[in-house]
Amino acid sequence: MKYALITGGSRGIGASICKQLSKEGYGIIINYVNNDSAANSVKEEIEKEGGIAELLKFNVADNDQTDNALDSWMDSHKDDYIAVLVNNAGIRKDNLLMWMEDDDWYSVINTHLNGFFRVTRKVITPMAKKKWGRIINVASLSGVRGMQGQTNYSAAKGGLIAATKALALEVAKRKVTVNAVAPGFITTDMTKELNEEQLIETIPAGRFGTADEVASLVKFLVSEEAAYITGQVIEINGGLNT
Ligand code: NAI
Repeated sequence: MKYALITGGSRGIGASICKQLSKEGYGIIINYVNNDSAANSVKEEIEKEGGIAELLKFNVADNDQTDNALDSWMDSHKDDYIAVLVNNAGIRKDNLLMWMEDDDWYSVINTHLNGFFRVTRKVITPMAKKKWGRIINVASLSGVRGMQGQTNYSAAKGGLIAATKALALEVAKRKVTVNAVAPGFITTDMTKELNEEQLIETIPAGRFGTADEVASLVKFLVSEEAAYITGQVIEINGGLNT
């Protein structure tokens, strides 16, 4: 069976991606780091609709946890492979650079960028061997244009975009596509303490986006119809141009 691994799949954008890709017929691997009950409810929702879902708890910023979890999944799924990887797990630790603590810098870089590296390196070989794969990296408007108070997050997402373009070149001949999506402001836990009323003034569409809208874009990039799209960054931001 073809599986889709969604990092940070227990809530927000990741949970919507899990549900939409399940409807496309993929077995879903829900990665998450600490909220067992949220992850379980995504799994149950998928199963209620007749889909297949598994939980795979590991911290993408932790090298050993990531390697061990993926090795043991592969050992117990000899006839299956991860055909779709969505690198979605993410955190924000905003501050002006002059006040930024070491941990705010390193934890954000580790989660987004080192997480991408460790997880992707494990799954790319089976994809290349099978000659079919999809990697979608969830970047951000911040990684395209830079945002004040987010030098750490902008650097991580900007790095993820550059890595997307480089990896796409390495695996294009193997029919593995690698793309990034760059959302603007999306209503999730990550944005709940932002001043939505004030920010909406800056968004031509006059609203935040939804997790389902981002998931629909990811679903398209995963589809067969998107086979000739690779190395791209697709922005989804209600016209908030970069
Ligand atoms: P969220 O905070 O609702 O969900 C983040 C998910 O990542 C959670 O499931 C969390 O458990 C998981 N996670 C965090 N650190 C992890 C780690 N070390 N290992 C494994 N899982 C981990 O946030 P949201 O909004 O759904 O974000 C998803 C992605 O979209 C993130 O990469 C975020 O940077 C990106 N994004 C979000 C935007 C927004 O406006 N909400 C805008 C642009 C990008």
